[in-house]
Amino acid sequence: NTPLRLGIAGLGTVGTGVVRIIRQKANLLAARAGRPVVITAVSARTRDKDRGVTLSDYAWEDDPVALAKRADVDVFVELMGGSDGPAKAATEAAIAAGKDIVTANKAMLALHGQALAVAAEAAGRVIRFEAAVAGGIPVIKALTEGLAGNDITRVMGVMNGTCNYILTRMQSAGLPYAQVFDEAAKLGYLEADPTLDVGGIDAGHKLALLASIAFGCQVNFDGVTLEGIEKITIEDIRHAADMGYRIKLLGVAQMTGRGLEQRMSPCLVPDTSPLGQLEGGTNMVVLEGDNVEQIVLRGPGAGMGPTASAVMGDVMDIARGARLPTFGQPAASLAQCQTATSATP
Ligand code: NDP
Ligand code: HSE
Repeated sequence: NTPLRLGIAGLGTVGTGVVRIIRQKANLLAARAGRPVVITAVSARTRDKDRGVTLSDYAWEDDPVALAKRADVDVFVELMGGSDGPAKAATEAAIAAGKDIVTANKAMLALHGQALAVAAEAAGRVIRFEAAVAGGIPVIKALTEGLAGNDITRVMGVMNGTCNYILTRMQSAGLPYAQVFDEAAKLGYLEADPTLDVGGIDAGHKLALLASIAFGCQVNFDGVTLEGIEKITIEDIRHAADMGYRIKLLGVAQMTGRGLEQRMSPCLVPDTSPLGQLEGGTNMVVLEGDNVEQIVLRGPGAGMGPTASAVMGDVMDIARGARLPTFGQPAASLAQCQTATSATP
């Protein structure tokens, strides 16, 4: 059976997690895919770095664009991050070179997903991005496959583990925002630019991607009404608790008479509800459809194992021959949905 050959650009938390899975589970993956899944080449910024995994079996490229164009790569696995720069350049090069794409890069897709999807689909290629939304939770698969027989009515959830950690810790330890923020930084939870987390931007990227799939619209990150958690005080947390509520950075996307409403903001949720009980860095996504009514998905939204698990789910789909379009329907057919002008809370 012809092996599926991967080129992995980015060997940080997620990239090394993917290498680890492929090395440890080669036989299992081959049995499940019906063909071997192999890595042929890798790329990162620094070649001489101990990453805790064996890389000497793979060709090395300093330049991710060169990796993307290699003849011995079928799938370009983009795990560098960043909305523009090398991630976007290499993804475009990979599409032009006839490769399928797997990426965890929500920032790139929230801003450029439509154009990349149109280019990929015109070239007969697929882009898969399960890891970009809610880490290890297979929410994109649930929407595009399991719920394909539904009109989706609402998508909501907690999609940034760092913010959930900060808010939960403020509540449980009675500590002020600044102190818990510093704690989160020391624990390595924050993105290199922490505003992406605490400003709600990272979660907004994820919501815009889910909304596109759920409502058949072009990804519209600018249409997300965004508010972060930086202004939440310990007094806010205490007052909410006194009334039986918790504060969560909650995303909601729904189609209203005024257009597509996408809001990511701190919200009060009943403290006994599943969302209210969501602790630490965990994510929860609630999907509502006309036939299924409501399903709730809960799990780890970040980290090496969970995120690499989601990347591998996409790789395995491609290995089995799945050719699902990027957003669950052809990108060229996605409507330009009007953004609701005054979102309701
Ligand atoms: P890291 O910062 O841990 O790793 C990034 C990797 O990309 C590093 O190996 C780095 O090289 C490499 N890299 C950066 N720039 C270049 C470049 N110009 N050329 C070649 N290689 C480059 O990131 P993560 O693994 O955490 O994240 C990867 C992606 O996954 C991002 O899009 C992120 O948003 C997404 N994601 C991450 C999650 C997580 O829990 N970490 C969860 C969900 C999604 P070097 O090591 O040499 O510096
Ligand atoms: N910074 C993100 C979070 C990483 O905290 O959820 C996973 O996307």
